[in-house]
Amino acid sequence: MSQPHLPVETLGEAEVAAELTHLAAEIARHDEAYHGKDAPEVSDADYDALRRRNDALEAAFPALIRDDSPSKRVGAPVSSGFPKVRHEAPMLSLGNAFSDEDVAEFDQRIRRFLGLTADDALAYTAEPKIDGLSLSLRYEKGELKVAATRGDGQEGENVTRNALVVEDIPKRLTGDAPDVLEVRGEVYMSHADFAALNERNEAAGQKVFANPRNAAAGSLRQLDSNITASRPLKFFAYAWGVLSEPLAGTQSGSVARLKELGFQTNNYMARFKSADELVAHYHKIETDRASLGYDIDGVVYKVDDLNLQRRLGFVSRAPRWAIAHKFAAETAVTVLEGIDIQVGRTGALSPVARLKPVTVGGVVVSNATLHNEDYIAGLGGDGQPIREGRDLRIGDTVVVYRAGDVIPKVMDVDLERRPTEAEPYAFPDTCPECGSPAPREAGEAIRRCTGGMTCPAQALERLKHFVSRAALDIDGLGAKQVETFWKDGWIADIADIFRLQENYGSGLSQLKNREGWGEQSATNLFAAIEDKRTIDMDRLIFGLGIRHVGETSARMLARSYDDWDAFIAAMDETADTEAETNAALENLMNIDGVGDTMAAALVGFFADPAARAIVNDLTEQLTIVPLEAAQTDSPVVGKTVVFTGTLERMTRAEAKAGAEALGAKVAGSVSKKTDILIAGPGAGSKLKKAEDLEIETLTEDEWIVLIGA
Ligand code: IVH
Repeated sequence: MSQPHLPVETLGEAEVAAELTHLAAEIARHDEAYHGKDAPEVSDADYDALRRRNDALEAAFPALIRDDSPSKRVGAPVSSGFPKVRHEAPMLSLGNAFSDEDVAEFDQRIRRFLGLTADDALAYTAEPKIDGLSLSLRYEKGELKVAATRGDGQEGENVTRNALVVEDIPKRLTGDAPDVLEVRGEVYMSHADFAALNERNEAAGQKVFANPRNAAAGSLRQLDSNITASRPLKFFAYAWGVLSEPLAGTQSGSVARLKELGFQTNNYMARFKSADELVAHYHKIETDRASLGYDIDGVVYKVDDLNLQRRLGFVSRAPRWAIAHKFAAETAVTVLEGIDIQVGRTGALSPVARLKPVTVGGVVVSNATLHNEDYIAGLGGDGQPIREGRDLRIGDTVVVYRAGDVIPKVMDVDLERRPTEAEPYAFPDTCPECGSPAPREAGEAIRRCTGGMTCPAQALERLKHFVSRAALDIDGLGAKQVETFWKDGWIADIADIFRLQENYGSGLSQLKNREGWGEQSATNLFAAIEDKRTIDMDRLIFGLGIRHVGETSARMLARSYDDWDAFIAAMDETADTEAETNAALENLMNIDGVGDTMAAALVGFFADPAARAIVNDLTEQLTIVPLEAAQTDSPVVGKTVVFTGTLERMTRAEAKAGAEALGAKVAGSVSKKTDILIAGPGAGSKLKKAEDLEIETLTEDEWIVLIGA
């Protein structure tokens, strides 16, 4: 929460200068967290308050405006990993309005600037402000050439390969398009897709995104476009950059043209003739907000006539002809009736608030996340107090917050309304499902059930994970169906899925008589299961739900071993602690992306007899297809390569992604198995070792020639 501010009029120069210094640093930090790391630390409302305060101080003391003032720049510097693209026309930001009066003032300002009276006609458009990330798409002769993120507004990241896999983004424009056309709009993720992605990630022990915006940003900025392709991103077009010829004479006409050219445009965009009409439309959108199915954080108003837009121009970081009318942050007060503990696939105990149902921004909320034990106790991730150290107790009156987030949070507590008998919450130290001890690992805020294969909750979550989209992906057998089969004892372990027909499908009599199943759907299910008896090795590894092994790591592992038998044999060898050196373990750790934590998780998993019984039982049912190298005609297929020293033509991440796309394995250190070392300036011990082992060594340029990039 931001601190209360002293009125500007009461401040002297020295105080203002000090506060501006503080604000510049603070806002820069939040910009970096939001744009650079996709992990904002403050709510939009708090962030906007900081910016407004900065603007107010600068307006009163223009002489004190700093060179590094947040008002002079947009967003955060681009983060590395992708090649940079300079925007030919900068990507700008929008000023904000927070009240109906602010909107009236916006209209008056524009009229003043243009010399129009209150009675002169002046049309605006109004449309939802999509809470995603902006993207600039450059088309030349109707073909998508470059897609770039906003970055700092001047220079963004080249994410073309990823944009090419987003369905809403046309690769070719339909109809008559200007030769050069930069379309701008917002990449976003729908609520439903966000929830499904998080469910999938959670089951896989992967990053769970705080909100759809972060999920969209994280998905678009993947170095592996296969990952982007597996994330359901959407795109709305609402603006443009450079154009070889105008699309139309108005904002609304231009957006209509974008629609004709094949883009999705927003249905709520409409044209209005007064500030009152704009505000009325704002309230209509606000009412419908909860049912849109995607996050919006306000309504954007734009002057419709492009000639007037040109005359109005820009002030520092934003156009004078547009403004964003923001929604108020959504909070509500209710009672914390209980705390439920959910047990995840890897045993993590997650506390969930059971709330007296309350409407927050048009949505009835009865559950909210409480993150972990520390959060309930009033401690943040860094061990520092949050909520000034106030803990949460059952019976408390709490503030529930829902902004952008689909999962609401319990944000604060009203101590004055705490029942006298309320006691500090004692977080369970055993698993509520199986009773096994649930200790915290050093440095972790999460308690984890140690029941492993014996914990029923983990077993069910593992099953759900196994049938998830990135793993087995069986049509008609989702988390819901698995749960009912499991509850009825039809499926106890993953292998049972493949015995479903044998055990319960005789003449379909049993399954087709179950609620929700008929002859057709039962037949389809069995056919779909049969179809998945042949499974890709990477999907299988991922589907086992080993902690720390996500989709990407699973693919990397599958690529690093010739086939399943080789993989299992290697895993068995890794557990052999007798020998002095363990070559299998060294090989495993040598796979790029496999660190100590993941290696330990793999070794532990395959050494656990209960896990091995489940795996063996399963693999007997399956035909496992080894992962073929991505490209078979590249000169580096199947080669193990190591990069060392400074790369000058690309980032390390880009080099790695490129090598892998050509079917090479990228390792972190040099060994006898290394085929090629690519050494840039400053290469040291790895180069020496490669020379000793007589391994082929290339410069970065020679490597680029070799792969024909
Ligand atoms: S117009 C020159 N329209 O909001 C003005 N922006 O705060 C260009 N945004 O960077 C922006 N929905 O990422 C515009 N309907 C909409 C929008 C929108 C979301 C984002 C966009 C922009 C940011 C400015």
